[in-house]
Amino acid sequence: MTQDELKTLVGQAAVKYVVKGEIVGVGTGSTVNKFIDALAAIKNDIKGAVSSSVASTERLKALGIPVFDANEVSSLSVYIDGADEIDHAGYMVKGGGAALTREKIVASLSKQFVCIADESKLVKTLGAFPLPVEVIPMAATRIAALFAAKGGVAKLRMKDGLPLVTDNGQHILDVTGLQISNPLAFESEVNQWPGVITVGVFAHQKAQVCLLGTSSGVKTLEF
Ligand code: 5RP
Repeated sequence: MTQDELKTLVGQAAVKYVVKGEIVGVGTGSTVNKFIDALAAIKNDIKGAVSSSVASTERLKALGIPVFDANEVSSLSVYIDGADEIDHAGYMVKGGGAALTREKIVASLSKQFVCIADESKLVKTLGAFPLPVEVIPMAATRIAALFAAKGGVAKLRMKDGLPLVTDNGQHILDVTGLQISNPLAFESEVNQWPGVITVGVFAHQKAQVCLLGTSSGVKTLEF
């Protein structure tokens, strides 16, 4: 099976976690796009979605799924999102699609995080995928120096020759060379650095379930 087919498989499998009559939290990315497409088939059974990005909002609306502001809900039963890496405890690296801040906000509103990913995303230790960090632009050089002290190399993410601007009007650093052996402590530490908006380690907002697309079908991991 191709990676795209594996994404379709887990996107469809995630629909059974959606609670009928409720609002579902929706992440961002190519795997989530498959989930949104599958969600359209049961759109009359749900109230709508809280979305984690402009891109997902547009896709949801185009399929006729109502999108609610996060401020309109006090909690969500479930949040469905992809990951760039997930380990065997459900800790993740996210933000490859630059949506990490809103993803963490919607995840924090949700009782259950269901991660959908193909098997290439499952890792022993987080850090091989460049770690996305959303930053206030004036703090980028200082934050890069703090990562350098940890052995990391931070690079400003570019788009069309200019720094990429997130949905929140900020910049992204992608940090290579890290081995994140204690995701909870790492996330807590980087969160304290002035100018960091969101670090792409999702340890305090970890997954409870991962639907992993493998050549032999969808494997369900529970953490
Ligand atoms: C976006 C994300 C995505 O969930 C992550 O990048 C995985 O994306 P894809 O499903 O396209 O591989 O964190 O900010």
